[in-house]
Amino acid sequence: MEFPAHVGYNFTPTIHSDIYPAIDASKSDLTQPGKAVLITGSGRGIGRSIALHYAASNVADIILCARTASELDETETAINKINNKVKVHKFPLDVVNSSQVATVASYVKKEIGKLDVLVNNAGTSSGCRYFFSYGKFSLRKREGVR
Ligand SMILES: NC(=O)c1ccc[n+]([C@@H]2O[C@H](COP(=O)([O-])OP(=O)(O)OC[C@H]3O[C@@H](n4cnc5c(N)ncnc54)[C@H](OP(=O)(O)O)[C@@H]3O)[C@@H](O)[C@H]2O)c1
Repeated sequence: MEFPAHVGYNFTPTIHSDIYPAIDASKSDLTQPGKAVLITGSGRGIGRSIALHYAASNVADIILCARTASELDETETAINKINNKVKVHKFPLDVVNSSQVATVASYVKKEIGKLDVLVNNAGTSSGCRYFFSYGKFSLRKREGVR
């Protein structure tokens, strides 16, 4: 499909919409043994997908954060199906709550001793169509996540 030049969509001749062999985390040359990875917003969507690919790349620890505990459980189950040697740590929290974030940071420091990767993914992709329906408070909360 042709798009206008200014959108940049034709910049590359090949458009991928899924994992392709060169970036497949399960390939041995992309493994990350021993790494500790924290992914915010890992209950569903892109964050969950990132968590699953880190599981496939054989990291040691994955720290999952999002507000909905049941979705963190689902991500953990999916991780275990891919690689049951990964240690999963789950934190149901709101990333705009600094004391909850501080609790996770202390836990990681004390229990794991390091953090190799932080994927700061939590957020929303509801789009501009809802922008004008946000009240001041909701907008501030939304900006806080960014
Ligand atoms: N999908 C796209 O096309 C697209 C495009 C550009 C950018 N992005 C960005 O990519 C990120 C992920 O998007 P997505 O499509 O995967 O979204 P999604 O499916 O709605 O998932 C968002 C994740 O973030 C968590 N989350 C949201 N607010 C949170 C908060 N205050 N504290 C803790 N966790 C929170 C959600 O869980 P809870 O609600 O349970 O907390 C959920 O696990 C977002 O930052 C989004 O803006 C997405």
